[in-house]
Amino acid sequence: MPYYRTVGRIPRKRHTQFHKPHGGLYAEELMGVEGFSSDSALLYHEHLPTAIVEATEWTLPDSPTVANHPLKPRHFETHKLDAGGGDVVTGRQTLMANQDVRLSYVVADRPSPLYRNAVGDECVYVEHGSARVETVFGALDVSRGDYVVVPTSTTQRWVPTGEDPLRVLVVEATGHIGPPARYLSAKGQFLEHAPYCERDLRGPEEPLQAEDEDVEVLVRHRAGGTRFVYAHHPFDVVGWDGCLYPYAFDIDDFEPITGRIHQPPPVHQTFAGPNFVICSFVPRKVDYHPQSIPVPYNHANVDSDELLFYVGGNYEARKGSGIGLGSMSLHPSGFTHGPQPGAVERAIGVDYFDELAVMVDTFRPLDLGEAAFACEDTSYAWTWAGRSL
Ligand SMILES: [Fe+2]
Repeated sequence: MPYYRTVGRIPRKRHTQFHKPHGGLYAEELMGVEGFSSDSALLYHEHLPTAIVEATEWTLPDSPTVANHPLKPRHFETHKLDAGGGDVVTGRQTLMANQDVRLSYVVADRPSPLYRNAVGDECVYVEHGSARVETVFGALDVSRGDYVVVPTSTTQRWVPTGEDPLRVLVVEATGHIGPPARYLSAKGQFLEHAPYCERDLRGPEEPLQAEDEDVEVLVRHRAGGTRFVYAHHPFDVVGWDGCLYPYAFDIDDFEPITGRIHQPPPVHQTFAGPNFVICSFVPRKVDYHPQSIPVPYNHANVDSDELLFYVGGNYEARKGSGIGLGSMSLHPSGFTHGPQPGAVERAIGVDYFDELAVMVDTFRPLDLGEAAFACEDTSYAWTWAGRSL
């Protein structure tokens, strides 16, 4: 994320002596991606960020998945999933996964443990509720409609705030998530045609400077899970600078790109990850050619599975299919999908869609997790034919 930021206190020159007011030196931590060849941040800790006193196994929750076979379009009603309470880290209910990405749904009503995902970046979409995301870089206050992008290996803790449970979709990558390259200049600034820009991104504004001893951090890494105990609180940072940090982006700040005839999904793209993209369908004026058809045409995306999460308004193309708020539709490669019967005719002459949806398109097939089967509406596949089986 090539957007330079300075938070808290840092010394004039990097890698020089930075003295504490009452003696001793702050401890530097350079956190960078792709070795020393890409974005990084330089953090200053009160105590050594390396001082662990325990390392034991953390058994990750079992999350088996099976292939979408026989191949079908699917509809999942996430609001029917277990809402019995949990936290954003240990309460993840796996909906779908492949080698590149894992998608899970969480209903959280309590603070998470301190956690670090060493496998890849996470993008968390807040469907409902609010939270304070505490990180080694500082805190982000997030609420309904926010995407929260957390870089690989960022120590974090999610604390729900407000009365309602927090409902989030967690997208766990096996690499890095960021704005699509075509939105950025060669030097990393958002270009004029991008649907959002630097002013729309919110980063931490002050360090937490937490003080505590023997603090547990759960780490998800390539070999499994490990529970570290740190001698001092990892959030003891007094300042940092750089281009690598967690940030929030409100979907309401996504400026839709529209046209005389129907625009394809890439105009809605918000983020790119390894072998997947994330898109935002926001309320917008629609196609204004006198003969336009505002809903999508039938399409076969031969190289991708398409997951759409319906989070607000009323999605025109899916009317009559049972899809409502909290629904997810999965239209896999190998299956041609399009508007429900009658949607094309109903859309003619309409000039505004009040819809809000988050799409994740993957370039490898998505396997299905137990949570998906627990909330599946199995009649969806047959809704275009108008028969019930
Ligand atoms: Fe589609």
